[in-house]
Parts: sequence; C-alpha cells; structure tokens
Amino acid sequence: MSITIDKDSELAVLPERIRKFPFPFANDFYRYSANVEPANKDVATEVGNWGAGLIDIDEFYHEELADREAILKRDPSRMQVLPHMRTAVWDSIATLLPSMAAENPEIMSFQRDGDTCRWQNSLQSLDLEFTMGDDDSLPMEPMRFLGTQIQDDIVLLDVRENTMWLDAGLVTFAADWSFGFDVGMTFAEIHGPVPRVKEENIVSRAEKFLLRLQPGEQFRRTNWTMTVGRRLDTSTETYPEWGPDRGTIADDPDMPNKLHLRVEVQHLIRLPHSGVLMFLIRSYLLPLSDIAKVPSWREKFGHVLAELPDDMAEYKGIIRYRKAASDWLLSGKSAA
Ligand code: HEM
Repeated sequence: MSITIDKDSELAVLPERIRKFPFPFANDFYRYSANVEPANKDVATEVGNWGAGLIDIDEFYHEELADREAILKRDPSRMQVLPHMRTAVWDSIATLLPSMAAENPEIMSFQRDGDTCRWQNSLQSLDLEFTMGDDDSLPMEPMRFLGTQIQDDIVLLDVRENTMWLDAGLVTFAADWSFGFDVGMTFAEIHGPVPRVKEENIVSRAEKFLLRLQPGEQFRRTNWTMTVGRRLDTSTETYPEWGPDRGTIADDPDMPNKLHLRVEVQHLIRLPHSGVLMFLIRSYLLPLSDIAKVPSWREKFGHVLAELPDDMAEYKGIIRYRKAASDWLLSGKSAA
C-alpha cells in the first residue's frame, strides 16, 4: 500500500518536460507505418498528456529559438523559399498566428482587419502591425519571421503533377538529413534513403493520403530517433560535430544523462488558400535518466531498442549503442 502511494506521489511531481513528453511507443516493438491521425487531440500518457493544440510552446522556447538564430547566421542554406512559394509562406503565417493566439490567449493575440494585422507575443515583448501578403511590412523575410515565433521546423511542399515537391522551408533541427540537399525533391525522392518503406508501400500510401487532404485539414504523426546530448541540430551539415559521439556513448558512464530519446511530432496541414502542404516538425528530447522515471516507458523503450531490426537501427544511426541503452533501461537500476 505505502509503495503504491509513494510511487504515485513520485509520478505526480515529475517535471513538465516528462509530463508533456510525447512518448511514442504503444508496444514493446516498433515498425514503420503510415501512422497519421487527426491533429489537435489530447493524448493521455502514463504520466501526463500532449497534443491538445497545434503549436506547442514550452520551457525551451527561448533557448531553441536562440539556437535557431545562431544556426541560420552560420548557415543560411537552412532556409530556402523557391519564388513560386511566396504566397504559401503567407498562407502559413495566416494559418499559424491565429491558431497560436487562440491556444495561448494569455500570452499571444492576433487581430486582423482585411489585410491589416496585429500580432502580439508577450514572450518576446513583441507588438507588431503588418500587412498580410506584403513582405516589406515584416521586420524580416516572412519565412524567417515565422521561424522566430515557433519552435517547429517548417517545410512547404508544392502539389503538382500529382505529387509533392519540397520547394520551401526553414529547417534548423534536422535529424540526420539535409534540408538544403532535399530542396526541389519529390516526396518519394526525399524518402529514398529510408529502408523498408518502399517495399512496404508506406511512402506511396502516405503520399496518396496527403494528396487527398482538403484545404484546412490538419493531421499529425510521430517519428523518433536518438541523440547524444541535448542537441537539436543533427543535420548532415554538422555531422563532424555530433557524429563521433555515436561511437563513444556506449562506454560513457554518464550515458543515461547524455543519451536522449528524440521524438518528432509532425503536423501535416493542407494550407487553405494556396493548397500547399505544410509539414511542421516539432522535436522533443528526453534523456534516458528521465525516461527511466516512468517504469512503463523504461520497459517499453528498452524492449523496442532490443528488438529493432538491424537495418532500421543502422538507418537511425543508433546501432552502435542501442544494446547498451537497452541493457541499462531493462536492468531497472534507474527505478531506484
Ligand atoms: C504520412 C506522411 C509520412 C510518412 C508515413 C513518413 C515516413 C517516414 C519514415 C518512416 C521515415 C524514417 C524515419 C526514421 O527512421 O527516423 C521518414 C524520414 C523522413 N521523412 Fe517522412 N514521412 C511522411 C511525411 C513526410 C513529409 C511531408 C516530409 C516532408 C519533406 C518528410 C520528410 C522526411 C525526411 C526528410 C526524412 C529523412 C530522410 C533521410 O534520411 O534523408 N516526411 N519519413
């Protein structure tokens, strides 16, 4: 009896980063699938919840946006907008700002009268008047501006010739891929490096689903990988900075604090005016030591890592340390 009470009260005081974490595993194993579901639905986890709204703002807001700013200064190729996508960027702004204001009325507000807009974001002491569709009315390029307001990476896919083309975006937190390399590619080409998905028709089914989305419809899916350190920018461009850690982490005594489960909540939205597909990628990092505070997460993730087929573990870049991580999680030492 007393053990149950102790455990419950321990779970009740877990920090927000754990209570709000979108833990992605329902089972003891994981396979790829076209896992899409309607957006804006609250999901209860063992210790909290996530997903009630579209744009999630959390305790890392300022830190991540400062990180993005520094990355863009170093490497401007992380943002690209092909000329025909200009109106789609405005469509994104017209969709996201009102949604953020509605979800966070105590800190944000958006008013619109014709094309005259006012955006207030008290987190940044920002009170901005601008004209919808007029690039010069914003303090910076519209895509860049959007990237200063939300933690999500942004990708815009043009729909033509019965497929989708990655023709614009601002991606500073890519997980082991290169936005600059993928610009101009089709949906199928982008997924070329992913094992299994072609043979299992996952990409073609996902593509058909996305092409059928109606203007304004919002869906989402999750994806996951692992990262050494609290580091969001693991893009191909910076591989020399983070790649070598993959080879040493298994023997690092501080592995439980350094190794993170990285979950991406990805939104898929057909923009109402341009018909362009907006793909938002919001990345969350949680160290193994935090995951271990939730016994069912510790067990599930431990089993998922142990069971994951080699080709998927290789693609995700976790093959050299997944056994060490799984052994540590399943040893239960963490539950002490
Ligand atoms: C229902 C829709 C989608 C499905 C089912 C899907 C599926 C997948 C899967 C299974 C992976 C491998 C992930 C991993 O093991 O870490 C992946 C990777 C990726 N996906 Fe998607 N995806 C979808 C939508 C999109 C969209 C709209 C984009 C927009 C550009 C996109 C861009 C990517 C990229 C860039 C990668 C990494 C590829 C690389 O290694 O270079 N995905 N996707």
